[in-house]
Amino acid sequence: MRGWTILAGSGAIIVAAALLLWPGPPATDLDSAALVQLVMPDSLSEHEQLGAALYAENCAVCHGVNGAGVAETGPPLVHIIYETSHHPDGAFYAAVQLGVRAHHWGYGDMPRLPHLSEQEIAQIIAFIRRVQRENGIF
Ligand code: HEC
Repeated sequence: MRGWTILAGSGAIIVAAALLLWPGPPATDLDSAALVQLVMPDSLSEHEQLGAALYAENCAVCHGVNGAGVAETGPPLVHIIYETSHHPDGAFYAAVQLGVRAHHWGYGDMPRLPHLSEQEIAQIIAFIRRVQRENGIF
């Protein structure tokens, strides 16, 4: 009986020590995985700020911090491919509401994100367009 208690006790200590020493899952370092170097605007309008927060929550995991892309995961949105003449705002609404079949890159399809409202998508677009303009993409 006593032997089991000691065994169980040391087992718990080993588990606790392992948890303390475990570094956790590798953090995806979005900054170091960026595909393009961005110039960021000094300030954002309130509308753009709301979009920036929604972007960080919903898009950055694939399209990178502020649209800079993520190596091996997703393309930069601050890229000449996504200038307004080639991808007008309607393309952004469609991408978010319907998803995207991979066609420009080799990252695979983009899933649709149906929880975002039209207003939220408009805010995200305002933010991305602002960063695009700041980087010479119109
Ligand atoms: C799970 C990853 C993922 C997430 C999350 C994601 N995207 Fe995408 N998105 C992609 C990939 C990959 C492509 C490129 C598809 C291709 O090869 O053309 C893409 C393409 C796009 C395009 C281009 C559509 C077209 O017509 O070519 C737009 C616009 C876009 N994404 C916007 C967004 C926005 C805005 C968000 C957040 C609300 C978002 N994406 C979230 C992966 C993602």
